[in-house]
Amino acid sequence: MDVNITSEFRHLARVRSLIEERADSVGFDRAAASEFILALDEALTNIIKHAYHSQPGHPIEIHLSMQSDEAYAEITDYGDAFDPDPVVSAAQHYKELPKHRGGLGIPLMERLLDAVEFDIRPGVRNVIRLRKRRKVA
Ligand SMILES: Nc1ncnc2c1ncn2[C@@H]1O[C@H](COP(=O)(O)OP(=O)(O)OP(=O)(O)O)[C@@H](O)[C@H]1O
Ligand SMILES: [Mg+2]
Repeated sequence: MDVNITSEFRHLARVRSLIEERADSVGFDRAAASEFILALDEALTNIIKHAYHSQPGHPIEIHLSMQSDEAYAEITDYGDAFDPDPVVSAAQHYKELPKHRGGLGIPLMERLLDAVEFDIRPGVRNVIRLRKRRKVA
């Protein structure tokens, strides 16, 4: 399923409920789905805030694949590039989330998901891939 939005926060509620509906219809675990949705919401918030500097009207493309055992999203934007490597490696070393304000989004995404992958081509497009497998009981 593909969902295209523009860079305004008011679209995020619709994206969240779309994913919730898909998760329910394919039988993806509800608790895992809400963690996936939280991470995806944070990825979209980062794109609007940092890649598009909170300017409206810029494209964000979301490709979503929900199966009973796995949720996967690929998010593409055409805003500012950044180097995720230092942020990601710092996040992986946190034993707990840092207490200072800001800088919580990527560590949170890493904690909630099985895989977070940034594929940045400066001046071309930025892709973020999010994957969460269902917890096996
Ligand atoms: N999609 C993105 N495009 C461009 N820069 C990004 C993107 N995501 C993150 N960044 C950069 O990485 C930094 C860390 O992101 P992170 O989400 O961890 O923290 P934050 O957004 O600054 O604060 P918080 O998420 O806690 O409100 C950001 O401050 C920003 O500079
Ligand atoms: Mg953030």
